[in-house]
Amino acid sequence: MIERASAWAPGKLILAGEHAVVYGHPAIAFAVTLGTTVQLARRPGHTEVEGCTAADAEGAHLIEADPRLLTALRAALPEQGLGVHIHTDLPVGRGMGSSAALAVALVRAVARLEGREAAAAECQARGFEIERVFHGAPSGLDHTVSSLGGGLLYRRGPDGVRWTRLSLPALSLVVIDTGAPGDTAEMVAGVRARRPAVDPVLDAIGALVPRVEAALGQADPSAAARAVGPLLTENHRLLARLGVSTPALEAAVALALDHGATGAKLAGAGGGGVAIALLDGPPDRLLAAARAAGFGAFPAQISPPESP
Ligand code: PMV
Repeated sequence: MIERASAWAPGKLILAGEHAVVYGHPAIAFAVTLGTTVQLARRPGHTEVEGCTAADAEGAHLIEADPRLLTALRAALPEQGLGVHIHTDLPVGRGMGSSAALAVALVRAVARLEGREAAAAECQARGFEIERVFHGAPSGLDHTVSSLGGGLLYRRGPDGVRWTRLSLPALSLVVIDTGAPGDTAEMVAGVRARRPAVDPVLDAIGALVPRVEAALGQADPSAAARAVGPLLTENHRLLARLGVSTPALEAAVALALDHGATGAKLAGAGGGGVAIALLDGPPDRLLAAARAAGFGAFPAQISPPESP
């Protein structure tokens, strides 16, 4: 019997299409090199989360496990016999897919404890079950990106989920963290409550995504940054009209545009969380300005696709 196993899964950033993706429009997202590790060890007695740590610029520290997280874990693990340790270097609750990364890492770790590797399809299916506990009615984008890695065009229509891998140019992206968590379930419910009045905004977000995809098709990163950037800013303005931006996110986007970004937007459900900025060139000036303004800021790197 295998006594202990561990597995990692990446977080994600949404380049275009959040919220609209819940209603059948396409979205573009990519896996990042930051993620979550789950370690499982057999032990006598009840299954328990023994430790939950997060790392940021200041080092690793203990974090309190979200009660929804504990419910989700209970649903996915045997009642008896496991000690669970969770470590993440993703900012938690900021739209970077920390809960999906946890779900996918957990599915992978459980499979390893059984002496096998979980295929992407299993991570997607079981990850979705776990994600539902956190998010209520998620589109499935987060855990699909976490399961598959790389860049993805994702759509959940009436006929099911469809996704296409996107090979992204080497984009220079900066994450600007407002430091405030956003509640995805609450933001999604808020948008739902504002329908049908906001349907034209959701349609406009959906219509932007194929334009972003076409702009990303340019192999030259500089040309891609100049073409994609303004579309990201347009996406942000539409998300603000949906009511999911905050003064801190507005300040982050304005700061990015003032410091050379070709475009910037909030990323994820909003109500807090992070903004992403696209640059045509090195990120240093924007990183310094964002930190000087009191934001967390770091470059985002794309995590390569999982082999099938
Ligand atoms: O988990 P977040 O905060 O990145 O939000 C996911 C994106 C939404 O479109 C707002 C929700 C969803 O399920 O797709």
